[in-house]
Amino acid sequence: MIDYSEFFADRVKPMKGSAIREMFKRMADPEIISLAGGNPAAELFPSDELSKIAGKILMTSPIPALQYGTTDGHPKMKECAIERAKKAGAYNEGDEVLITTGANQGIDLTAKAIINKGDKIIVESPSFIGSLNAFRTYECQLVGVDVEEDGMDVVKLEETLKANPDAKLLYTIPTFQNPTGTTMSLEKRKRVLELASEYNVLIIEDNPYGDLRFKGEEIATLKSLDTENRVIYCGSFSKILSPGMRLGYIIGPAPLFEKIEMLKQVNDVHTPMLTQLMCVQFMKKYNIDTYIEKNRKLYKEKCDCMIDAMNEYFPKGKVKWTEPDGGIFLWCECPGITDVSEIVNKALEKKVAIVPGSNFAIDQKLPSNQFRLNFSSASKENITEAVRRLGEVLTEIL
Ligand SMILES: Cc1ncc(COP(=O)(O)O)c(C=O)c1O
Repeated sequence: MIDYSEFFADRVKPMKGSAIREMFKRMADPEIISLAGGNPAAELFPSDELSKIAGKILMTSPIPALQYGTTDGHPKMKECAIERAKKAGAYNEGDEVLITTGANQGIDLTAKAIINKGDKIIVESPSFIGSLNAFRTYECQLVGVDVEEDGMDVVKLEETLKANPDAKLLYTIPTFQNPTGTTMSLEKRKRVLELASEYNVLIIEDNPYGDLRFKGEEIATLKSLDTENRVIYCGSFSKILSPGMRLGYIIGPAPLFEKIEMLKQVNDVHTPMLTQLMCVQFMKKYNIDTYIEKNRKLYKEKCDCMIDAMNEYFPKGKVKWTEPDGGIFLWCECPGITDVSEIVNKALEKKVAIVPGSNFAIDQKLPSNQFRLNFSSASKENITEAVRRLGEVLTEIL
């Protein structure tokens, strides 16, 4: 028998698969209600419209969809990305745009272009596991800064930058953060930019949920407040159209993008042309904002439904949770315990999937007394039922 582990590169050996992906394997059981993933509401996918569009493209002008395309993206798709980014104030004349195979790829390629082995990246703690894992493959050092109800703790950020003056990159999800659902205040955004300037770090602003606000006032993106061109903005069509189409984009300073584009060429040559052209036609023929509005309305209903059920079924005073103004997640903490593993396992026995907080931590080996809940994907009936079962588990253990 070959011991394949001997062949793995050192940088890959310590990597652990995402527990969320592992959970997906067990979720083949149709009875499991998942509050675990980050799937948007499938019931709203505009599948009729997209099937007509795909049919028309392939019937009337198939070659651009089936032939190789340019690495930076179809010019019309770039216009669509710019149109979305402009709504977030995230595009300035002279910025470069690259269409990526999901925002995930944009984040990965940006890190690949910037990070040497041992370099430090400052991240929110907790943060999105996909990005943390991408950063880990570059053998960097992740330095965490706590997330508060109004976003990253900027006092800790300053201390962290002081203690790590060689940090190169700051990664943040300021709006409806994954996993906490929190949003960074305007004052903190300004402070983050000041500190980034003082300590000369580049910023990746990851904003896949920005369009999904269902409460409160819009807050300016970091990119729109940035006067020094140090923000690389990552957008995505995953949560506003379809994650399976794998369409994301990054926007930022041209000199960086020359390298990033070369890395994308090596990686996958270009993002699939068919889904790019489908998105272009969708945006031309239909009003994507009307579609997004439907998502916002449904997510508000689902979020309210989850919070109502938590108030009803969770043991009183034993669990704290965030109440997001948008996005698809909320974050729970059980102050009386140190580790939610038993809760997660018992919930799974009752056929409810949730994700333990350790997944989103810098050091995934440490226990966590927190867990993440997703409210976009399950039906309202299933959300109530899953929270009821989870409430039984929490009552028993806490
Ligand atoms: C914060 C964050 N960034 C990026 C992504 C990746 O999005 P995409 O599907 O565009 O790769 C996700 C997906 O869940 C996310 O939560």
